[in-house]
This record gives sequence, structure tokens and C-alpha cells, in this order.
Amino acid sequence: MGDELELERILERYRAAGRILVEVREAALELVKPGNRLLDVAEFVESGIRDRGGEPAFPCNISRNEEAAHATPSIDDESVFEQDDLVKLDIGVHIDGYIADSAVTVDLSADGKHKELISASESALYEAIKVIHDGVSTVEIAEVIENAIRERGYKPIVNLSGHGLARYNSHAPPTIPNVKYEHGHGVILKTNDVIAIEPFATDGGGKVVEGGNVEIYSLIKPKPVRMREAKKLMNEIKKYHGLPFARRWLPRERLNLVLKTLKDTGVLRDYPVLREEDKGLVAQAEHTVIVKEDGCEVTTSSTPKQ
Ligand code: CO
Repeated sequence: MGDELELERILERYRAAGRILVEVREAALELVKPGNRLLDVAEFVESGIRDRGGEPAFPCNISRNEEAAHATPSIDDESVFEQDDLVKLDIGVHIDGYIADSAVTVDLSADGKHKELISASESALYEAIKVIHDGVSTVEIAEVIENAIRERGYKPIVNLSGHGLARYNSHAPPTIPNVKYEHGHGVILKTNDVIAIEPFATDGGGKVVEGGNVEIYSLIKPKPVRMREAKKLMNEIKKYHGLPFARRWLPRERLNLVLKTLKDTGVLRDYPVLREEDKGLVAQAEHTVIVKEDGCEVTTSSTPKQ
């Protein structure tokens, strides 16, 4: 019984993180408009999370067009949303380490030219959510996602997948692939597992590669380093508990050298921007769910019950 109380408290934190995420996501969507700065949207999201008593579980990702993930504005980024952009807004919120993770794609064309592609990723997400319950296999979820995207004439991105969520771990096992042949027998989900489902659909070849730009890092583990600023930074980032953080959140003193030193010594990992290899357009839809006996509870849905 003590265990159940503890479980309920944990699930309540997952739900509270989800409620903050929904409010911030809906407000931020109003700002994703041609001419507005990406940096302003990212800062709006991150400060909106903190103002509501949460913390960002990772920097606000704003990936456009052939970028699929891991793009976030730099500290003095002047880039603005352009007419015709296809914008992925991927947001993470945590409370006490318990994470909500959700993404939406916005069509900034005047004639709705990205509508079908966005609808492919959204249908895949909603069809996946419908089959989730205690005992479902990740292979079955992957098959539903793949079929939904292919039926609409697009390809799923084979090397991006949904994932479990655990305390201070934004990519915990199991992997939820977006194509059925990738992962053999898969994993059976059980009641109260918390997972993020995130189908990516593209009109390109269906694979992402690393681009050059890096704005996001996370701590692998602290190690002894000589450089004073590197030592200082290592202390500074302990507060993220291993969750990803943005370069623009850090003190600027010799920052390029400090980050390079910590990366080279294996203290940090970096997250280069991921782009579709054929420069295909990419749409993403993502929700976090808690697996239940006969279904699942979506913690990041704007409608109260899924
Ligand atoms: Co995710």
C-alpha cells in the first residue's frame, strides 16, 4: 500500500508536468508566425515553464523544414520564421525529474501545402495511441505508425523513435520504433509505464543524418579536468541531472573552448541538428502517455480525456 501511494504521487507529477506543457505549447503556437524570432519563442516556452513551477526537460526544440530535431536557437540568434516554413515545436517539461514530452508541427504556408504531411504524422500518433494498453508490444505500435504514414503516401523516419520516460531520463527504454522491421520482438508495455510516441513523416528518403550545428549538450559524467572554467561549468550543469541543456543557458566565458574540452574528455555529449538526408520535409507529432489496463492516459493532450 505504501508503494501505491508513492506511485500515485509520481504519476501526479507526470500529469502536472503535462498540464504545464499543454498551457505553454498552446500559448507558444500563437507566436509561431512569419517574421517572429525563433529565439523569442524558445525563451517564451522555457520561461513559461519555469513561471508555472516546472523546469524544461530539454531546451525548446524549433526545427524547420528538412530539420527533424535538435535545433534550438543560439544565444544571439536573429533568425525568424519564414513564409512556407514547416515548423516542429518540441517541448519537454519536468517536475522533480518526472517528464512530459510533446511536439507539434505548424504549417506557415498561406495555401496549406504542408497539411497532408502534417496529417500523416498526426494520424500515426492518434492511431498508435488507440492501440496502447497493458500487454501491447512495441512492434504492434510501430506497425500502426508505419502503416498510417505509408497509407498517406509518405515515409516514416527509420532512425528516429519514441521512447520511455523515467526520472531525469528523457530517453529511457523501451524504444518505440516508427517502422515495424527495426526491432525484432520488441518490448511488452505494462500498466503505468510512461512513454513518448513520436512519429516522424517525410517526403524524403526516410532517414536523418547529423548536421554541423550543435546547440544542445548533456552531461555523461563528471571527470577531473584542469581548466578552471571547465571545472566551473561542470559544477554549473549538475543542476540539470543529466538532462539536455542549451549552449545559450550557460555562462559565456571562453564557452567554445570549455565545451570542446568537456566534449573531448567524454564529460559531455552533444546533439547535432538532425536533418533528413535527402532534404525532404519532415513533420512530427508527439504525446506522452501513461499505459493503463485497457488503454492509456495522454498527459500532454489539450482535451482532458483521450
Ligand atoms: Co521525445
